[in-house]
Amino acid sequence: MIDPIVEMRNFRTHLPDLDGKVILVTGGTGSFGQRFVKQVLDIARPKKLIVFSRDEQKQYEMEQALSTDRYESIRYFLGDVRDQPRLEQAMRGVDYVVHAAAMKIVPSAEYNPQECVATNILGAQNIVNAAISQGVKRLINLSTDKAVNPINLYGATKLAAEKIFTAANSLAGRNGTRFATVRYGNVIGSRGSVVPLFKRLVAEGRDSLPITDERMTRFWITLDQGVDFVLSSLELMAGGEVFVPKIPSMRMVDLTKAMAPGTPLKIIGIRPGEKLHEVLVVQDEARFTIELKDRFVIVPEHITQAGSNVSGKRVSEEFSYISNTNSEWLTSDALSDLVVNY
Ligand SMILES: NC(=O)c1ccc[n+]([C@@H]2O[C@H](COP(=O)([O-])OP(=O)(O)OC[C@H]3O[C@@H](n4cnc5c(N)ncnc54)[C@H](OP(=O)(O)O)[C@@H]3O)[C@@H](O)[C@H]2O)c1
Repeated sequence: MIDPIVEMRNFRTHLPDLDGKVILVTGGTGSFGQRFVKQVLDIARPKKLIVFSRDEQKQYEMEQALSTDRYESIRYFLGDVRDQPRLEQAMRGVDYVVHAAAMKIVPSAEYNPQECVATNILGAQNIVNAAISQGVKRLINLSTDKAVNPINLYGATKLAAEKIFTAANSLAGRNGTRFATVRYGNVIGSRGSVVPLFKRLVAEGRDSLPITDERMTRFWITLDQGVDFVLSSLELMAGGEVFVPKIPSMRMVDLTKAMAPGTPLKIIGIRPGEKLHEVLVVQDEARFTIELKDRFVIVPEHITQAGSNVSGKRVSEEFSYISNTNSEWLTSDALSDLVVNY
């Protein structure tokens, strides 16, 4: 059974001082980006907070929704991460970048591989080049458990982006720009995720809920926790790390029980590119992994030698962090409380 503290684990330790800083978030109109903007402006007074994304309508709607004085430091910047010169314009004078823009729907990536590669891989490369040329201080890349031992193109492109970010620290050299990644599991209630889907099906009065496999498990994190985790990793990073939060797992069947008690399940089978369980740290990464109270940090060898900003104990060589063998679980009751707000 899960300790309630685990559900509520907050990563608000080590928050960076963002007062007077210029921050840019790619994908700023997405689920993560919008919450990021609100949370940053709750805790700090940055000089500018730049929302970088393609669709003017989404930016317009966000601007309308956030039209009070509190949000006056936000700048809306239209651009595509595939366009390096545009990124260079956007990054002039920027201190910190959080890179959240991505194509993330697994079947879309499978059917449109070139599009996914262009956004997730070439986009990451453009971010790195633009950031180094503009002298950005620190960048955090958002990654996913699907990047570990990937079996779909989405995961493979996110793995490539992780590698591009880690290697960028050597590219930057004396320029001093530093790059790191955070890698986490499913975000409760984010755009295109299972909670809004189940909510719609329940509202439509469906007599059953689709589930791929009764054994399926996933890591779960809330949007607020995701934002706090990114901010604290921005503060802790020395460059090249992959930060992994300690978060609970849930069983898909428990989620259906929480959202629609008594509704029968319709087993539809695992879809192409889907795993039964997700992995956040694979055993082969164990020898580079340090455990802190609230997170694991996969530290590349060159940083271990040069000195890292994190100190903790090394995990055992047999260690792996997988959703079905996690020690922390969300019960149906805990899930009911969590999904009620989404
Ligand atoms: N949601 C999850 O469960 C989850 C879990 C782990 C990691 N992540 C990672 O977290 C990040 C954010 O996810 P999210 O849930 O916030 O996604 P989201 O809601 O789909 O938002 C994606 C954002 O990226 C922008 N975007 C897409 N393509 C772009 C491009 N070529 N150039 C510039 N902007 C672009 C979108 O705006 P426009 O379409 O207007 O450009 C939107 O603002 C992603 O990197 C994802 O891989 C998500």
